[in-house]
Amino acid sequence: MDKVLVVGGAGYIGSHCCKALAASGREVVVFDNLSTGHEDLCLWAPLVKGDVCDKAAVSQLFEDHQFSAVFHFAAKSLVGESAAKPAFYWNTNVSGTMNLLDAMVHHSVPNIIFSSTAAVYGEPDRPLIDETQTLAPINTYGRTKVACEQMIRSYAEAHQLGYVCPRYFNAAGADADLETGEDHSPETHVIPILLEAARGIRGKFSIFGDDYATSDGTAVRDYIHVTDLANAHVAALDHLVLGGESVAVNLGTSQGASVKELIEVARTTTGKTIPTEVAPRRAGDPAQLVADATKAQTLFNWKPTNSTLEQIIDDAWRWHLKRF
Ligand code: UFG
Repeated sequence: MDKVLVVGGAGYIGSHCCKALAASGREVVVFDNLSTGHEDLCLWAPLVKGDVCDKAAVSQLFEDHQFSAVFHFAAKSLVGESAAKPAFYWNTNVSGTMNLLDAMVHHSVPNIIFSSTAAVYGEPDRPLIDETQTLAPINTYGRTKVACEQMIRSYAEAHQLGYVCPRYFNAAGADADLETGEDHSPETHVIPILLEAARGIRGKFSIFGDDYATSDGTAVRDYIHVTDLANAHVAALDHLVLGGESVAVNLGTSQGASVKELIEVARTTTGKTIPTEVAPRRAGDPAQLVADATKAQTLFNWKPTNSTLEQIIDDAWRWHLKRF
């Protein structure tokens, strides 16, 4: 049976991918330092506790298992923190990825699926972003992801690796069976924060800016259900295994939703009032980030099937009530 290494498999997107990989009949091993991941969300694979920056631990992992593919999710991903701690971000994200690539080459592991982000595009100049949009990250987090993508391309050219770099738009929601879901500390993402406000765990929900050039003045994002993201990752691996080309692809729904729209769906779903206030814009937030996800849909024969705002928020709400 194929054995797939999921680095960062105890985290939000990683744990949903473990579930999807196991459902596809693969054996999975998780490698995670549990800095932001959770051991109790490793339900589909044994956990090897270790740090991707520890080259010896990574080498040992590849000595102990013969993997057929690597899924790499282990990265620092908070934009604000990345501005304050560049060395930490470059080391974890870029050196960590290099350690994995070196081990893959040494052990002839053919394929990698690398977790990238829409943050590689910076402030895009068009309403729907396809992969021809120039890479122009505006923060350290995005720059480290561009560097990783380029490093992967170099290794792929020299060593015949296959790769897919899915660039995520806004991952949201939770496993419909509530076996895993989002659990960040501190939480900075809009939907869990809205749900915390709905439960009274935090006070008013702050709308970061209502003077953007969008239909209702609030920022627009492309929210994709995490289960759809996970299924896209498995489809990406199938694509590589069948000899498909190595690519970077956008993973989104091609539909935008504003912060005000989210608030309305959250109020309806939870049945709670959710007090809100308008706060200043958050530094570095573009007005609109929406994917043109045609390339992933065509290449992987995949499409999002769980990504209505109603389903995303309903699954997130049920998870929230179970977990917190
Ligand atoms: N927002 C609020 N109030 C809050 C929190 C967020 O109004 O309390 C707004 C933000 O300003 C933004 C939108 O909700 O307009 C979404 O914010 P998130 O923090 O949930 O997500 P981001 O779009 O900032 O970032 C996410 C990932 C990044 C990734 C990016 C790519 O967290 O890692 O999507 O699109 F780079």
